[in-house]
Amino acid sequence: MRELRAGEAHIEVWADAPALIARAGQLFAEKARHAVSTEGRFTVALSGGSTPRALYQRLAAAVEPDAPGIPWRDTHIFWSDERCVPPSSQDSNYRMAYDALLGRVHIPAEQIHRMRGEDEPARAALDYEKLLEEQFEKTPPRFNLMLLGVGEDGHTASLFPYSAGLEETKRLVASPFIEKLRAHRLTMTPGAINAARTIMFLVTGRAKAETLRAVLEGERDPRRYPAQLVEPDGGQLIWLVDEAAASLLSPGNGRAH
Ligand code: 6PG
Repeated sequence: MRELRAGEAHIEVWADAPALIARAGQLFAEKARHAVSTEGRFTVALSGGSTPRALYQRLAAAVEPDAPGIPWRDTHIFWSDERCVPPSSQDSNYRMAYDALLGRVHIPAEQIHRMRGEDEPARAALDYEKLLEEQFEKTPPRFNLMLLGVGEDGHTASLFPYSAGLEETKRLVASPFIEKLRAHRLTMTPGAINAARTIMFLVTGRAKAETLRAVLEGERDPRRYPAQLVEPDGGQLIWLVDEAAASLLSPGNGRAH
């Protein structure tokens, strides 16, 4: 593993996707144990995508066979974004996480808080915002862990280039219509994402290299690259990337381990 810095961002570059997923699993377990021992519960926001799926599958198997494990009974699951489809749909982020992980570990059902992709989008966004206000003492909520990916177009959660929701400052959850998908999405807004105590990006593959360089080292242009809107408000920002995705980042002041 080698480490890089880009501004405030702490970037860990791992050899390949399996090594990155192993590290993500280890960090997930550490954050979960720490949160439960200090606050009595662990709150995590999941996202969709193929890289998060690999993490969920790994978490469902033992992460560290000799370690105390993950305190699933005290874990509370939320989502950073959702597609506007029923939970039974193959496109549902809830379903993906359920199939890969949630159906395989012992989390009390009432601690799994999905976004209701089957409802009218504006309504579903308002309802999820209300749920967050009920589940957390403070607004915006301070999740212990926020998992995010980055799309080739620079989107994160369902904050897509030039879409509504990017400039949203009052709401925690938005329901933008995404032109290129010809569909609405449900997404946490930057204000909700940035309040998290730890934000962890997972980015793998050569196809993301240009975008990753633009997000981390390019001009600030968050309407074009919404992932640039992720700037934690006092929390920690960790980028886990593989060598392929990092291949266009400047070595800068990076340190090899
Ligand atoms: C979604 C996601 C999305 C995803 C990125 C990266 O619902 O699609 O939440 O933001 O995380 O598109 O996805 P990949 O890991 O599949 O590239």
